[in-house]
Amino acid sequence: MSVNLHTPGGPGPAPELFTWEFATDPYPAYAWLRQHAPVHRTTLPSGVDAWLVTRYADARQALADARLSKNPVHHDEPAHARGKTGIPGERSAGLMTHLLNIDPPDHTRLRRLVAKAFTPRRVAAFEPRVQELTDRLIDGFAARGSADLIHEFAFPLPIYAICDLLGVPPEDQDDLRDWAGMMIRHGGGPRGGVARAVKRIRGYLAELIHRKRENLGAEGADDDLISGLIRASDHGEHLTENEVVAMCFVLLFAGFETTINLVGNGLYALMCHPEQRARLQESLAAGETGPLATAVEELLRYDGPVEMATWRYATETLTIGGQEIAAGDPVLVVLAAADRDPERFDQPEVLDLARRDNQHLGYGHGIHYCLGAPLARLEGQTAIATLLRRLPDLRLAVDHHDLRWRGGLIMRGLRTLPVEFTP
Ligand code: HEM
Repeated sequence: MSVNLHTPGGPGPAPELFTWEFATDPYPAYAWLRQHAPVHRTTLPSGVDAWLVTRYADARQALADARLSKNPVHHDEPAHARGKTGIPGERSAGLMTHLLNIDPPDHTRLRRLVAKAFTPRRVAAFEPRVQELTDRLIDGFAARGSADLIHEFAFPLPIYAICDLLGVPPEDQDDLRDWAGMMIRHGGGPRGGVARAVKRIRGYLAELIHRKRENLGAEGADDDLISGLIRASDHGEHLTENEVVAMCFVLLFAGFETTINLVGNGLYALMCHPEQRARLQESLAAGETGPLATAVEELLRYDGPVEMATWRYATETLTIGGQEIAAGDPVLVVLAAADRDPERFDQPEVLDLARRDNQHLGYGHGIHYCLGAPLARLEGQTAIATLLRRLPDLRLAVDHHDLRWRGGLIMRGLRTLPVEFTP
């Protein structure tokens, strides 16, 4: 990091963003931006210019500002720069009509319809299955005394969970896991790999949805999320075939890398804070669940999976935090910076697993607030609690400096998390 925060007579030059050091630890740069350039124009690695919003109050306001559209048609840039929700390949596969790319009234209609199928009750009923999946994955490495918690645990858990919830037959789930893995591995890499994987997923989903639609109402028909989406209606309106495909796609991907990173970043933070982790383990051993829920919210605030909210575009000239933004300019709300704002959080750089006043923005805010938050909480809490209970002396197997972060724009997460424990 080229910045010197203590330069006499001034703040010094703006920190260099999007370097390897930044990917490893972006928080010093965000502290500088919050203080000296809270709404900061920068050139992204893709060459696109965008505004970064880093203060909590500005971020919260921007997330709920109807003048900031999610629809890439409002972007001034050439077509190649459009369609960036953080979900790779969606554009080439014709999957753009989903919640993260649309505004009211279309967004209101789709969100109301999906809410009818993706209910808190459905998620709560799914709890035993998430526990079973978690235990099965841990069984795979528990006797070995070592594991890579990203590849063997955090990566497969959310994809199997969402496949189950959607109603993907068990024999097809490994294919989806592999295609989804290609998307993440190739993210930012060769376009061909991503585009191929997304096309396969699209084709698979379209066929599965078609089969479920044919089968709807038949005796023994599945009561899964896809069938729920096909059935969902509001004032006689249904989701079109394409809308169901795009909805399943966004459910798969909005909940995939995010949950991997919640589990990965969360476990890493716990291993870096042994005293707090020990206290959490004691409360788990005593059968208390309250401290677990509070702890997972703090892990989200402290080092959350979504570094920046997905793209927004100014539909008219507007002002954020005193800075004028021109119509057509892209705006990225930096959740990771907002959630460490000392104006909002007491000692924000400190991990406090018992933190009470914790209205973090890790799941966003406003009409695009994370639809999957109840599922993410269920998976995050089950994964972390089960691992700490079953492998109580879990420890990092490499030096902190040897860990590699992915360095994408929207997401923040580890490539691998090698650990050791007593089998
Ligand atoms: C939206 C975070 C897991 C589905 C969002 C947004 C954030 C977020 C920040 C708002 C994006 C924006 O305003 O630009 C997270 C985190 C997760 C997680 C941190 C895990 C820890 C999930 C899961 C699912 C899901 C498991 C579903 C299976 C969605 C959907 C949206 C969304 C569909 C779009 C909602 C809309 O535009 O109305 N999520 N998410 N997420 N999330 Fe999540």
